Amino acid sequence: MSNMIKVDNLWFRYSRDSEWALQGINLEVKKGEFLCVLGSNGCGKSTLAKHFNSILVPEKGDVWVEDINTKDDDRLLDIRQKVGMVFQNPDNQIVATVVEEDVAFALENMGVPTREIRVRIDEAMEAAGILKYKDRAPHNLSGGQKQRVAIAGIIAMRPDCIVLDEPTAMLDPNGRAKVIKTIKQLNRDYGITVVLITHYMDEAAQADRVVVMSKGKIEKIGTPREIFSQVAWVKSLALDVPQTSDLAYQLNQHGYNLSTEAISIEECAAQLYKFLEE
Ligand SMILES: Nc1ncnc2c1ncn2[C@@H]1O[C@H](COP(=O)(O)OP(=O)(O)OP(=O)(O)O)[C@@H](O)[C@H]1O
Ligand SMILES: [Mg+2]
Repeated sequence: MSNMIKVDNLWFRYSRDSEWALQGINLEVKKGEFLCVLGSNGCGKSTLAKHFNSILVPEKGDVWVEDINTKDDDRLLDIRQKVGMVFQNPDNQIVATVVEEDVAFALENMGVPTREIRVRIDEAMEAAGILKYKDRAPHNLSGGQKQRVAIAGIIAMRPDCIVLDEPTAMLDPNGRAKVIKTIKQLNRDYGITVVLITHYMDEAAQADRVVVMSKGKIEKIGTPREIFSQVAWVKSLALDVPQTSDLAYQLNQHGYNLSTEAISIEECAAQLYKFLEE
């Protein structure tokens, strides 16, 4: 599979006299994958994400978006069009007073023809599940609905990749579930490459691959099963594991012998059922 983003020995610090926030990061984000980035507070997740669409550029090393080096100023618009970013606070991302105008905002600035804008924003609002709110005022929507308006604004740009930095951190469980469902649909049905930064392990468990960061470095990359089955190691980084792996882990601490690889609720339930039968 070809790369959407390639990070090659990336070093970055915010100023000459501060610590390196990123220390020799190497990473390939494959086209079409759903990649999740985990790590404790301050380990450099957001700093890394901002390198994916040239909000930040490396001090040493390189970041490539397909074949474009993010240091190439002449290609900034191409990069921003290929890789869209969604941030934590939906209020900071909403600019217009009507939902559909908000979704259209960037396209108007890009000079996309009016008829084309109509098609694209309808498609984007449909994909984000907000078509029914199109005439509403964004500030009257819930956090989860607002976050989906922000996502629709990015979809309307028809990006190949969306990077979401803790998009569900400020949402209630219902809003969070709807946002995650939307993200998964964009990945599965529209083939958009997704990079999701989250502190929620149940979200990470749904990704194709998980990147675990600590102190400006990547510690491990693997499938959710490979990562979360190593419960003691994950916890040593001050991170949680999904409740399913944790349940098996806790029971094993009391002398049982269950697999921590059962990370979906169905697998976990099946394992417990079998165990109780025996
Ligand atoms: N604008 C900034 N100026 C100076 N230092 C910064 C800036 N933003 C982040 N840092 C520092 O860089 C390091 C990495 O921060 P970053 O925000 O990337 O971590 P994070 O993994 O996203 O954390 P969190 O989980 O809290 O969002 C931290 O030490 C942080 O204090
Ligand atoms: Mg962050």
